[in-house]
Amino acid sequence: MSDKVYVFDTTLRDGEQVPGCQLSTTEKIEIAKELETLGVDIIEAGFPISSPMDFNSVIEISKAVNDPVICALTRSVEKDIDFAADALKYAKRKRIHTGIGTSEYHIKYKFRSDQDKILERAIAATKYAKKFVEDVEFYCEDAGRTDNEYLARVVEAVIAAGATVVNIPDTTGYCLPEEYGAKIKYLKENVKGIDNAIISCHCHNDLGMATANTVSGVLNGARQVEVTINGIGERAGNTSLEEVAMILKTHNDIDLHTNVNSKHIYPLSLLVSKMMRMPVQPNKAVVGRNAFAHSSGIHQDGVIKFRENYEILDPEDVGIPQSSIILTARSGKAALKYHLDRLGYNLEESRVEEVYEAFLKMADNKKDVTDDDLIVLIEGKLPEGGLSLKSVQIMCGDSLVPSATVELEVNKEIKQASATGTGSIDAAFRAVDEILGEVMDMDEFLVQSMGNRTDDGKVHLRVKYQDQHYLGFGVHKDVNVASVKAYVDAINKINSIKNKASVKASA
Ligand code: KIV
Ligand code: ZN
Repeated sequence: MSDKVYVFDTTLRDGEQVPGCQLSTTEKIEIAKELETLGVDIIEAGFPISSPMDFNSVIEISKAVNDPVICALTRSVEKDIDFAADALKYAKRKRIHTGIGTSEYHIKYKFRSDQDKILERAIAATKYAKKFVEDVEFYCEDAGRTDNEYLARVVEAVIAAGATVVNIPDTTGYCLPEEYGAKIKYLKENVKGIDNAIISCHCHNDLGMATANTVSGVLNGARQVEVTINGIGERAGNTSLEEVAMILKTHNDIDLHTNVNSKHIYPLSLLVSKMMRMPVQPNKAVVGRNAFAHSSGIHQDGVIKFRENYEILDPEDVGIPQSSIILTARSGKAALKYHLDRLGYNLEESRVEEVYEAFLKMADNKKDVTDDDLIVLIEGKLPEGGLSLKSVQIMCGDSLVPSATVELEVNKEIKQASATGTGSIDAAFRAVDEILGEVMDMDEFLVQSMGNRTDDGKVHLRVKYQDQHYLGFGVHKDVNVASVKAYVDAINKINSIKNKASVKASA
């Protein structure tokens, strides 16, 4: 039997640190449950001391999930560990993840300390965490740039103090795969008691090497990988779960396995992208829209003759549907529900009814209804509360000044404004600004076609408000309307944060 590599998913902690991508506790619970179905071994559910919301999310995820170990992050600070232990009280299996920076940069410029004092803090934090839980993981932050000899001293000391897992993060994504692998090998060969703990790889993708480094770590003896769905995370992101899982599954020459049921990968990738309002790049390995698309004639010919001529992965293996259930005007509710579930939409019965009605109308005008059409039907309706878009009318062309009239429902009151702009979308955004009496600063705007020869599109955008970023998503059969929906979505997010802040202030 091959050795098992433990999958530690940090989508809900490191992944959620992406600016503008914050999730509600309900959304986190939904993702955590899907991670459990996927078969991950450990879910890092949050950093409890960082905010009441993170604290609460760790509690609720602990209640909702049964099999995976629930892990909470801390610094090497007693108060952090107290909070983590408290937040984990309902977890069936729990782990505290504590640690400290060990590189010269962190010791000198972050802590203004020295190696011996940092070592003492590492030992003290591990012993303190052990008072609450048996399973303690210790991270040596910036291990990628930490001198191997000192790293080995810290790792040896925390294992002696009771650490069950030692995490060797390449926090800045600096290492080369050979260098990172050699680091793990060095620890395997030079740390007394190393076999009493699992070595974990936690790699960032600043130079595009997170997955390569993680695999190199595993080949040199690490047996835990810290990953996120779609590789989301701080800056250029973390190692992506789907890449590592499929590398270990595809390479029979690597005698290692994970517990991941790869058929759940694609639906979860869609769910995370949808909830975080973060598009997956089309050429993303394993889950990108083009990952299995063959466009050149030579490739198409080769795939038709024998799929494996150009495909090393079977799309069905990662849950990309090659479905025989096609949606048409004659499809029943069960077929619709099958596709909604597959796309990660777990809707209440009344909402399914609503979507089914809209689906039948759409199917009357289209030969068959695609996944993207279903997304339009579901996401097309803005969530209850907040601003809601009532109508958009646009005049544009190359011989007139583009103008737009937008109607919004604001606090149950319909408000309308018209504006001109450099183009149709700009005019519509200005009309929204006119209604709100505030001009938003937008620093990202992305339109993706839904593959039909029409105007339909998905729009992702990012608005900056008081130094925070808020992402908006809109989808519609008209790209102008999709854009205004995305803008309103981002504004609703800003308003919900403002409302929370004012409730907090008056409490
Ligand atoms: O990248 C990093 O070093 C981390 C630690 C907190 C584990 O995320
Ligand atoms: Zn990290």
